[in-house]
Amino acid sequence: MKKAPTISVVGSLNVDLTFRVPRFPVPGETLTASQAMTAFGGKGANQAVAAARAGARVRMIGCLGNDEYGERYREHLAGEGIDHAGVLAGAGPTGAAFITVDGEGENTIVVHPGANHELTVAKMSELTDLFTESAVALLQLECPLDAVAGAAEVAKDAGATVILNPSPWDPESMERNIPIDILIVNEREAEALPLGSEMGCMPQGCEAVIVTRGARSTWVITEGRTQEVEPPVVTPVDTVGAGDTFAGVFALAHAEGLGLLDAVRLANAAAALATLRPGAQEAMPARGEIEEMLSRGVRQ
Ligand code: RIB
Repeated sequence: MKKAPTISVVGSLNVDLTFRVPRFPVPGETLTASQAMTAFGGKGANQAVAAARAGARVRMIGCLGNDEYGERYREHLAGEGIDHAGVLAGAGPTGAAFITVDGEGENTIVVHPGANHELTVAKMSELTDLFTESAVALLQLECPLDAVAGAAEVAKDAGATVILNPSPWDPESMERNIPIDILIVNEREAEALPLGSEMGCMPQGCEAVIVTRGARSTWVITEGRTQEVEPPVVTPVDTVGAGDTFAGVFALAHAEGLGLLDAVRLANAAAALATLRPGAQEAMPARGEIEEMLSRGVRQ
């Protein structure tokens, strides 16, 4: 049997408090939620869990609070089979997110970074083996940009493919010469990118830009060429974490050696499955479920 590839995820770990609401409240309004749920989240850890469930060996690098949530999150990562030796203990509270999900499954998210913002290049340099034998380093922007940029440099020097999902969007991330091999953005983030009207101008050094567009085709942009991959058709109940599922499973597929289009197909199927159940990590599929959806064909 082929050895599972290793992926290092540098990113956030939050505790999510999610409220299901019939619609999003307007300023000054009080709404009653039909359901409340507390769960482990954060874009970094979500992507780590998605990759691990799809079959990767995952190392998580980040910073949890020195509190009960931090302790419980470590146990949770261990339960998912994720190596958390690179998860530091900060002085502040564990990061937290307040999420609303409306009747269409759409969401709004407000994040308090807490200990996630204590991650620094200096602290990471005290850790060993962050990227040793890692095929891919997967990063987002819920940790300080300096830490993300520094980690990308170290990962690149160690021979890993650097995949950046610049979410939440920070325009400065495109001005920092981060050595990005593959960029994964959603439509809104893509509008802010210097892709040019013909989608021909890539960020410097970048081999591919993947643009996820919800239920519509995913764009795979390489030098001078845009290809489209149709996602499965599903009726979402909760889209929280779908983008993270895409990024984590795409990273695993790339690390396994799949071509860009096949990696996007696998990631699209995983992301579609993740919208069928409530929650972020709770909803993430195992590899078998993803393969099964793909074998049933694109249209569900
Ligand atoms: O992408 C979804 C995630 O964004 C949530 O889990 C929340 O913690 C925020 O980081």
